[in-house]
Amino acid sequence: MANELKGKVAIITGGASGIGEATAELFVEEGARIVIADVSDVQGEALAAKLGGNARYLHTDVSQREQVQALVDYAISEFGDLDIMFNNAGISGAYHNRFLDDPLTDIDKVLAVNLAGVMYGSQFAARHMAQQRKGSIINTASIAGIQASYAISAYRASKAGVINFTKAIAIDLGEYGIRANALCPGHILTAMSGFSAPGLTPERARAMEAAMMETWMINQPLARHGKGRDCAEAALWFASDRSLQTTGQALAVDGGISAGDPINLHALLMQTRARFVS
Ligand SMILES: NC(=O)c1ccc[n+]([C@@H]2O[C@H](COP(=O)([O-])OP(=O)(O)OC[C@H]3O[C@@H](n4cnc5c(N)ncnc54)[C@H](O)[C@@H]3O)[C@@H](O)[C@H]2O)c1
Repeated sequence: MANELKGKVAIITGGASGIGEATAELFVEEGARIVIADVSDVQGEALAAKLGGNARYLHTDVSQREQVQALVDYAISEFGDLDIMFNNAGISGAYHNRFLDDPLTDIDKVLAVNLAGVMYGSQFAARHMAQQRKGSIINTASIAGIQASYAISAYRASKAGVINFTKAIAIDLGEYGIRANALCPGHILTAMSGFSAPGLTPERARAMEAAMMETWMINQPLARHGKGRDCAEAALWFASDRSLQTTGQALAVDGGISAGDPINLHALLMQTRARFVS
């Protein structure tokens, strides 16, 4: 593929690293002009410089309504239009093992970045797109918003909110020719996705990380580690005119983990069975 996004203008929030960074690279490869929005200024500016004249960087904290409005205004003033709004910035919040032990001190921040930030970006972009009667809004949710499990309950709530919000605006904005879809990554190797615990020696931390990854892979049908580029490819499809008939959808990019039982009970049963059957 090449030039799938020729002539299109995109904003990518959380674009300085991980999934956003991979998407920034792919969108520019495909001919888009982009604004990378993030709070990691050094990384964001370096990426924009690397990508050349079709990329800009703007410091934007997506939890701040007026900064998101300024971001949309900036993209339109720099590039004359806005076709694609990728609301991708997100934070995981503190990782606590079980709900009873979770101090719930980060609810406001997690909801402000992950959910309110998506809502601001969607609305400000849609107000411009409605005048043009075209546009694609892509909101990063998570498989944590599709299926429930242990821990990070605020994060799960924020991502479930992103999915339902995206479906709601898809219905609301359809008459203006604006599409809205959610991207639901599974485990993707980025800065956010590492497993850590306080007080471990580097060697023990590496061993724990490897063991956690192995456990994850037991439960994932495709035993392959997801990469930012995998999500970028899905974002490209939502952004391009190849998906003109698709709106209100939540697409998991997760190696199949959300296709069925998240604990993979059947696999565990088979392991138990194997202890008895030679
Ligand atoms: N990596 C995974 O396994 C995974 C799984 C499911 C969902 N996600 C989601 O994917 C999205 C991207 O995450 P990632 O894995 O690339 O992580 P990442 O940490 O590499 O990237 C997230 C980016 O968002 C930026 N950011 C954080 N707070 C911000 C704010 N207030 N305003 C603007 N930018 C802000 C960070 O500086 C960073 O550059 C997030 O929404 C995350 O919840 C990731």
